[in-house]
Amino acid sequence: MSQRPAGVDLRVSVGALQLKNPIIAASGTFGYGIEFTPMVDLNRLGAMVVKGLSLAPMAGAPPPRICETSSGMVNAIGLQNIGARAFVAEKLPELRRRNATVVANVFGCTISDYVEVIRILEDAEGVAAYELNISCPNVEHGGAEFGVDPVLTAQVVQAARKAARRPLWVKLSPNVNRIGLTASAAESSGADALVIANTYPALCIDAHNRRSRLGSTTGGLSGPAIKPITMRLVYEASKVIKIPIIGLGGIESPIDVIEYMLAGASAVEIGTANFVDPRATEEVLKGLERWCEDNKITVISKLRGGIEVAETASR
Ligand SMILES: Cc1cc2nc3c(=O)[nH]c(=O)nc-3n(C[C@H](O)[C@H](O)[C@H](O)COP(=O)(O)O)c2cc1C
Repeated sequence: MSQRPAGVDLRVSVGALQLKNPIIAASGTFGYGIEFTPMVDLNRLGAMVVKGLSLAPMAGAPPPRICETSSGMVNAIGLQNIGARAFVAEKLPELRRRNATVVANVFGCTISDYVEVIRILEDAEGVAAYELNISCPNVEHGGAEFGVDPVLTAQVVQAARKAARRPLWVKLSPNVNRIGLTASAAESSGADALVIANTYPALCIDAHNRRSRLGSTTGGLSGPAIKPITMRLVYEASKVIKIPIIGLGGIESPIDVIEYMLAGASAVEIGTANFVDPRATEEVLKGLERWCEDNKITVISKLRGGIEVAETASR
């Protein structure tokens, strides 16, 4: 029996893709989805994004790979993954059987890496969209992150757009002065939606042994600590682009989802909260339905961009 309260329409559109609700599991925090099937009904989620896929399998970074911080965690996984071909052969058939809406997170060290991964996935059935992780060092440009430079952002998105028939989401780096520049570059290069955002560079030191708490020294901060910072990026980007935004950063409750939608997001992803409670995606979804009913919200998509800004507000 459906648990959805009568009268709450949770459907959202992300470009041409219609999702049954705005809750999406975030890349790198939900494995390949299959690991979560004892706890989460994948078919209930709006979508799930798989761990970032590269052309060849990657072993990842030395341990320790995660450490807890006040209101968050820092990770340096090193993009460990089984590679796009193995994903198609070993994981996708099971995800199809479970009727999951699968978004493939794609990354590379060069533009042609990105294109090759997309080509492999294009031939496979059961991928609803691509999410381009552009927070990766471009080895052809001295290791600069694609996502911090609007020109590099435009180049990688244009190449991916040419290779992809499916919807193309671009996951922006938050490590920029003006998110509007990279957001506009991605939009004008053919992105169907923007995902805002990835983690923030961070360092945790153990004072007792004077070493980093992570094998790779530095890592990326995620979790509730980043929520207000990323929410501002969603808000700023929504003022300059027309394509839909998917917000993520520190979401762990239904109210967090509502806030991101008011800031301008059409849908959201849930990441670090999956480490606290592997059932977080479904729990937030259930709470969201209840919240909407209690607050007489009948069509959730109407909340998008509903923030009320005082006319006199200067910042
Ligand atoms: C352990 C871990 C692994 C991650 N791996 C990826 C990845 O492979 N690709 C990617 O685009 N983002 C990755 N991310 C970033 C998350 O998808 C998300 O953007 C970020 O954690 C912020 O959301 P949150 O605060 O809800 O976790 C990873 C995050 C964590 C914590």
